[in-house]
Amino acid sequence: MRSSYIDLYNHDEDAATYDQDVLRSEDPIREGYTEVLDWVAQNAGITQDSAVVELGSGTGNLTARLSPCRSLVCVDVSAEMTRIAKQKLRGASHISYVQADILEYFDADPPPFDVAISTYVVHHLTQQEKELLFDQLVQRLLPGGRALFGDLMLESAQEERVLIDHYRSIGDDTTADAIEEEFFWHVDASVGYLRSLGLAVETIRFSTLSWGIKIQVPR
Ligand SMILES: C[S@@+](CC[C@H](N)C(=O)[O-])C[C@H]1O[C@@H](n2cnc3c(N)ncnc32)[C@H](O)[C@@H]1O
Repeated sequence: MRSSYIDLYNHDEDAATYDQDVLRSEDPIREGYTEVLDWVAQNAGITQDSAVVELGSGTGNLTARLSPCRSLVCVDVSAEMTRIAKQKLRGASHISYVQADILEYFDADPPPFDVAISTYVVHHLTQQEKELLFDQLVQRLLPGGRALFGDLMLESAQEERVLIDHYRSIGDDTTADAIEEEFFWHVDASVGYLRSLGLAVETIRFSTLSWGIKIQVPR
């Protein structure tokens, strides 16, 4: 299945300025970016033997932080973002690249993996698509495996309304519009869904909008 807004969120046109843009930590959307990527990399539990999949690998900023592993598949729809990642990660022969929608990737029945990681991508999927992605991950993660997400999230639909009003009240319509138009996670709904799949789930908040979620599959 192809995600509904894939063409809108293909980052080809943002690729040239992306790496500078993410460092603007005064922007509420970017605040916590570096900390989130560091947390995902440090908590992914990647070893020399791990088979790893990165969903929405972009320009390779998370990829570059990861420990060495047996194999790493980087999935992203954007040819331009991937071109920059390949340049940044040149020489890393354990990395392969798949230009695809992160939902469609699973239609091709990829091999199982030990670790899945993803930063600032899944907020481009609707809640229904997020749940479909979680279903796919549960089927492909090996026993004892883990998935780590860092992304734009809100505690709940209620907090979403409070924060949209807050950003409008201080004249920050860009952030309010982003929250309204994109699909920032509702942590309560996604964590509830993941726990209903029998997974152990931990959350951590890095800034008003940036959170991490760690999922552990039983052995
Ligand atoms: C905000 S960037 C994040 C990139 C990187 N993970 C990071 O943390 O810097 C989102 C990336 O996801 C890709 N993307 C968005 N929706 C996608 C989808 N449904 N399937 C595959 N890639 C997608 C975009 O092309 C872009 O490279």
